[in-house]
Amino acid sequence: MPGFPEVRLRRLRRNAPLRAMFCETRLAVSDLVYPMFVIPRRRQLQEIPSMPGIYRLSVDQAAKEAEEVSRLGIPAVILFGLPEAKDEQGSSAYHPKGVVQRAIAAIKSATPNLLVITDVCLCQYTSHGHCGVVVDEQVDNDKTLELLARTALSHAQAGADIVAPSDMMDGRVKAIRQTLDEANFEHIPILSYAAKYASAFYGPFREAACSAPQFGDRRSYQLDPANRGEALREVEQDIAEGADIIMIKPALPYLDIIRQVRDTFNPPLAAYNVSGEYALVKAAARQGWVEEKKATLEILTAIKRAGADIILTYHAKEVAGWLAEESREI
Ligand code: PBG
Repeated sequence: MPGFPEVRLRRLRRNAPLRAMFCETRLAVSDLVYPMFVIPRRRQLQEIPSMPGIYRLSVDQAAKEAEEVSRLGIPAVILFGLPEAKDEQGSSAYHPKGVVQRAIAAIKSATPNLLVITDVCLCQYTSHGHCGVVVDEQVDNDKTLELLARTALSHAQAGADIVAPSDMMDGRVKAIRQTLDEANFEHIPILSYAAKYASAFYGPFREAACSAPQFGDRRSYQLDPANRGEALREVEQDIAEGADIIMIKPALPYLDIIRQVRDTFNPPLAAYNVSGEYALVKAAARQGWVEEKKATLEILTAIKRAGADIILTYHAKEVAGWLAEESREI
């Protein structure tokens, strides 16, 4: 092995064109998915205090926003709904005229080429705020499966391009796949939140989506942040049940998991740069404590370098703008 002084690693870092040519990871706008919160009624736009720049949007506003997202070159959005009413069974999650179902139709008619992914879960729709049916203060796995499958089917019927279950029930990918296939939606892919950790970084999302559990927490279904082997088993299971795309969530505190899943499995890999990760950057930037653009691009590049093919991020719109500026400068 040759060493110094023959070897000088700084040679390829000497100037900007050299650095650009040997850059190993390039973030592209085509990697990004923009999450959106949709609410009932018309002409509503509510800023979420802990997520500056992100709004809850009524269906008509969501369609407008989707047009802007598409103009920026972002290929996909993921929708979260806040229903008018919640009940024990989360029934507005699978109502054919539910808020997400109406938003899918509105977005698809405004921007047919923008991919619409839907989050499939019950927590925004249940009165108790858990991701499934509660029996004796426990989330009942098998009773929940049918409702999740119904929800996914109603999204596909409304025109969703991809369904994304985020509940962490065992067997939900299989249940959703069967239900979709029986209804002739065998062409709709499933993006499974395969390894979703019980994370403190969902705090701002729960404020945004009014989905905090009313008792207890989500540790009986989401993963312990201390565990790695269990995440690999979750991913393996979801692939076996027919998941087309695998997701790790959150992203930044779990880069090691992203890397190991990338090295172990072949399906496309997504990472969710979640609400708390977004809030940390925004809060520090507002104080002048980090440079917002640099910090954001560094974080997203690191997530891609770890192995993610696509990144769900609230930063998507601003990043699309920055990347477009940079390509004009070159
Ligand atoms: C619903 C769901 C959550 C997120 C995505 N889908 C919250 C939770 O599990 O409590 C979090 C997203 C974010 O924090 O940005 N199950």
